[in-house]
Amino acid sequence: FFFSPACLGIQLFGSLAGLPCPVAGKESWNYVKVRDGAHMFWWLYYADSPSAEFKDLPLVMWLQGGPGGSGSGFGNFAEIGPLDTDLKTRKTSWVQAASVLFVDNPVGTGFSYTETPDGYATNVAMVASDMLVLLKQFFTEKSEFQNIPFYIFSESYGGKMAAMISLELTKAIAQETVKCNFAGVALGDSWISPLDSVLTWGPYLYFTSLLDDVGLADVSNAAKDVEMAVEQQQFEKATELWSVVETVVEQNTNGVNFYNILTQDPDIKVSEKHVINIHRHVKPLHRQSLSQLMNGPIREKLGIIPKNVTWGGQAEEVFSNMAGDFMKPVVDVVDQLLSAGVNVTVYNGQLDLIVDTMGQELWVKRLKWEGLPGFSKMKWTALYDPSSPGVTGAFYKTYRNFAFYWILKAGHMIPSDQGPMALQMLKMITQQL
Ligand SMILES: *[C@@H]1O[C@H](CO)[C@@H](O)[C@H](O)[C@H]1NC(C)=O
Ligand SMILES: *[C@@H]1O[C@H](CO)[C@@H](O)[C@H](O)[C@H]1NC(C)=O
Repeated sequence: FFFSPACLGIQLFGSLAGLPCPVAGKESWNYVKVRDGAHMFWWLYYADSPSAEFKDLPLVMWLQGGPGGSGSGFGNFAEIGPLDTDLKTRKTSWVQAASVLFVDNPVGTGFSYTETPDGYATNVAMVASDMLVLLKQFFTEKSEFQNIPFYIFSESYGGKMAAMISLELTKAIAQETVKCNFAGVALGDSWISPLDSVLTWGPYLYFTSLLDDVGLADVSNAAKDVEMAVEQQQFEKATELWSVVETVVEQNTNGVNFYNILTQDPDIKVSEKHVINIHRHVKPLHRQSLSQLMNGPIREKLGIIPKNVTWGGQAEEVFSNMAGDFMKPVVDVVDQLLSAGVNVTVYNGQLDLIVDTMGQELWVKRLKWEGLPGFSKMKWTALYDPSSPGVTGAFYKTYRNFAFYWILKAGHMIPSDQGPMALQMLKMITQQL
């Protein structure tokens, strides 16, 4: 442990934007070189609970979506980290119940960076092999975490990466190349079967009064084009057509918010008519205020970010390099995890459009997992919202090594929309409740 120069500055000249300096045993961060010229950034918060030592609580790695969205920025400050984007204490931070590790992946995301244009990952297998390099290094450097139950939680495209990473990690542990106590993976509003998501956008919006018959026909026709491209294995084309469907949805819904159908962002106008908009899913995670925070006081606090690296500066390249992989499903990977005995949880927000619950139900019902008939026959259990006594906050069902959580009144970013419910879910999945 050492004080970064920026932190010495804070020590000498008082606090910088109220940011505490790293205290040994509280937080830690570093880069790992995962390939030549390719560097990945991680940021760890040790669990901070009044009733338990960090050694008695699990370790959770959080993976953001996009690809290109930053866990160290968005997940940390907008969802589950100890401070919110105003640097005020978050009451529902996951750090109360677990040590939390944010990793900016794939390479080029957040503070991670590549020195050369060919350093980006182009498929999820490469994303997983980069992450395995990072995890091997992390558990060597932080050997106190080797025996602590390790969970991977994820959101959106992060779930697709989490599934593949979990599979590779399971193999690496069996081969003893990574030392850790892997306990399970949780796939939040995850891009596991992109086509199932796109094909259910129309029906979901129709049944929630956001499309009329004419709009439903428009959206369904556009979605069929994506289906055809996927069937013909034209995945790059499918990604372009996916973006076209989004435009058709926006035009027919007066700009519904893909991340939560009940909130509308007045700053986002339905103006770009035919733009193939890969920015749509990377931009909301890089709002100007977050960018200023990360590229201002946070990078100063961290003290190890190279001068020519900008947080979010390579995000769009991360996405475009993955365009050929984006629409490929990883349902078979989830099946492999289940048959390998890995604990898998799917959780989804009721108000999420981009990865709507209807689409998740579809691919789950197609799993080859032998426990599926048993799971399907079970009734779900209601959970009360910890912040509103007597109000249903979620439903869940768990059977053998698979669980599903239906989170009510939450969109795509579940911990931002329903913080107390998300924290309770974290505790349940990590066997603290
Ligand atoms: C930053 O500058 C150094 C030195 O000029 C160079 O080696 C490195 O590749 C640059 N990094 C990026 C991400 O451009
Ligand atoms: C998976 O979850 C069950 C509880 O549902 C638990 O008994 C088991 O230990 C978990 N497996 C691992 C590898 O943590």
